[in-house]
Amino acid sequence: MREQDAIVEAVREHYAEVARRAARASEGRTSSGCGCSSDGGCCTGASGYYAPDERTLVPAEALAASAGCGNPVALADLHPGEAVLDLGSGGGIDVLLSARRVGPGGYAWGVDMTREMLELAEENRRRSGLDNVGFLEGRIEAVPLPDASVDVVISNCVINLSVDKAAVLREAFRVLRPGGRLAVYDIVAQEPLSAEARRDLRAWSQCVSGALDRETYVHLLREAGFVDVEVQPVLALQAGGCCGGDEGPLPVGSAFVRARKPGSPDLGDGRLTVEAASRDDLPAILHLLERLGLPTEGVAENLEGFVVARRRMPAPGGPAEGSLQTVATVVGCAGVELYGLQALLRSVAVSPPFRGAGIGQRLVAAALERARRLGASEAYLLTTTASEYFARLGFEQVERQAVVGPVTSSSEFARVCPDTAVVMRRELH
Ligand SMILES: C[S@@+](CC[C@H](N)C(=O)[O-])C[C@H]1O[C@@H](n2cnc3c(N)ncnc32)[C@H](O)[C@@H]1O
Repeated sequence: MREQDAIVEAVREHYAEVARRAARASEGRTSSGCGCSSDGGCCTGASGYYAPDERTLVPAEALAASAGCGNPVALADLHPGEAVLDLGSGGGIDVLLSARRVGPGGYAWGVDMTREMLELAEENRRRSGLDNVGFLEGRIEAVPLPDASVDVVISNCVINLSVDKAAVLREAFRVLRPGGRLAVYDIVAQEPLSAEARRDLRAWSQCVSGALDRETYVHLLREAGFVDVEVQPVLALQAGGCCGGDEGPLPVGSAFVRARKPGSPDLGDGRLTVEAASRDDLPAILHLLERLGLPTEGVAENLEGFVVARRRMPAPGGPAEGSLQTVATVVGCAGVELYGLQALLRSVAVSPPFRGAGIGQRLVAAALERARRLGASEAYLLTTTASEYFARLGFEQVERQAVVGPVTSSSEFARVCPDTAVVMRRELH
């Protein structure tokens, strides 16, 4: 067997055993007991990296199976409607957390080469009840996703395990859409590792022998095409510590890695449409509004007046396998409530990474058109922050006391919006 194939097989067998142990532990509802022992995973039992509020978002079994060296989900600063890929997703902790962060309008993929890990991850997905998640079998050196199919690539303590890191980083760059970002925790070498250490299959599986030094990491990221590259050491690992081992302090440590693919998202007509919202969009709309601190009261009752900005991202199963598959994500919304001839425009929201591309304007135009079709002749809105924006869209400021008619009984007028909110009006022709 070639040396590289032997490493891949050793890593696969190591994590198959880690997965089997985690599955047995969760069946017995006991701790996996891997902790930081030298026969454990890379950092099995690494749930301490997750904040208390995050720990409540995923099944206990997924937390117990975590084997990373940091929290890439926190590093990635995820937003509603984003599509995320986790390289080497293991038991699925970071995929499930990402799915919660991007909400029902977003999507999270995980890719892993170890079948036992994929089974564990699928079981954890089932326990979580999430359906905006997909686990794919594959190598991170040849990711089974089409070009420009995700907004963010994350990874937790995996890239060091690869025998071809340059290929992994090229693949991360390929599957990211223009402007997409990479947010990774990994192990880096603080000093050159001896040839003997590099050949140690057990230490390779435990995230030691394959570690790149910081300079090489930066170089490979730039060579792959990334910009704004940052590789920042975080923690030194000690013998008997995270990765185990008994030969004195290890010359490796954890680090976070951030980088960006140049460009901005392609939100051309093929990718993004503004459409009437369906019942299925309600959870995504509520998630988006909650994350942006906007009121959610009355949305469900007025869903008929809502429109969403829907983006279609390529998914596995290209033309060669039939029709092009896509995953739809929701990156914005707007709604109107009808009060006879008066309409109240509300909930105009665009997820932060997708702002500045005219989506808000398209949503407002579509919501007002909906109001007109439903019989309204004038539209009102209340805003504390965006009066200049709406003035550019044809709204004029009016005195709150001067507004008469049923719209004043809406919850936004009557209760939700503070007295300082500006009232604006526009005729609908
Ligand atoms: C240290 S564990 C980390 C798992 C997960 N990221 C976490 O934080 O719990 C490494 C995982 O990467 C997977 N892996 C290692 N090398 C891989 C490769 N070349 N391609 C795909 N998966 C790989 C292993 O099967 C294992 O599930």
